[in-house]
Amino acid sequence: MTDPYGRSITYLRLSVTEECNLRCRYCVGEGTCRSRREELLTREELLTAVRAAAALGVTKLRITGGEPLVRPDIVSLCREAAAVPGIGELCLTTNGTLLPGLAAPLREAGVRRVNISLDTLDAEKYRAITRGGEFAKALAGIEAALDAGFEKVKLNTVLIGGFNDDEIPQLAGLTRKWPADLRFIELMPMVEGFGQEAFLPCSAVLAALPELTPAEADGGVARLWRLPDGKGRVGLISPIGAHFCAACSRLRLTADGMLKPCLHAGDEISVRGLDQAGMEEKFREAILRKPLWHGELGFREPSRAGRSMDRIGG
Ligand code: 5AD
Ligand code: SF4
Repeated sequence: MTDPYGRSITYLRLSVTEECNLRCRYCVGEGTCRSRREELLTREELLTAVRAAAALGVTKLRITGGEPLVRPDIVSLCREAAAVPGIGELCLTTNGTLLPGLAAPLREAGVRRVNISLDTLDAEKYRAITRGGEFAKALAGIEAALDAGFEKVKLNTVLIGGFNDDEIPQLAGLTRKWPADLRFIELMPMVEGFGQEAFLPCSAVLAALPELTPAEADGGVARLWRLPDGKGRVGLISPIGAHFCAACSRLRLTADGMLKPCLHAGDEISVRGLDQAGMEEKFREAILRKPLWHGELGFREPSRAGRSMDRIGG
């Protein structure tokens, strides 16, 4: 289905849990509270939502969280979602720490691509940014994903001035070692606690790596580059500096059943308790309510999302 600005909406990002085994500082706010269990969509409702989205022309589904792999039924949930007619591509976003036991079963269940968060290569800094996470687990998860034969493995690095800008060459250098893309993402102002210096534009990556050469676009939101000898590509995602609203094809559904026409807008439409026909109606409404763009964002212009990323889905 097409929105009022002519954008074809083909991509649903579905958050399947608000729980996470990490608490990344850019994602989880200090005093974030979680929904009550009875406010969360049931497994059946999640699958009904996927069917409703597919009926309206959604072909690509990304499972997010929280951390989706903390759900005990994640493998079978992915298998059922992948089997919904119309869903051509099932992807998953994860922090990777639980992938060692789950990468192969998820691949077998029909997950085609995975995005894994990796903000630093330093175990102490990893512990700091994730509020207690273990770097070795994330690394083992990335290796498990590479071994499991996904069509694509992408690493996501939130670029944070004063935290990981000194690691840009090392992080980008991973694309020499692994056939994975590494994407630097500009920090979005979702939670408090970051000073102005933390908001670096993606151009900082180009300044740090003059040897990057442009790579062919793949239709995604990242501008793509390559290091000499790079097996994977280096992507730059600029939600702040060069927002991609004009090409937005997305809808988001939160674990508590709220359709968000735009990540950075407070507008939410509940689908909780509805059958497929009822959900389709709400999906239509959400597509018709997509704003032209998310408005100014930056250090002085916090996101108007109304909730932190752990309760939306990265
Ligand atoms: N800014 C940019 N990206 C974010 N993510 C979460 N919070 C933010 C933020 N404030 C993205 C990261 C992470 C994924 C789960 O969500 O890419 O890897
Ligand atoms: Fe958890 Fe991912 Fe948010 Fe980090 S970014 S707290 S791993 S949901």
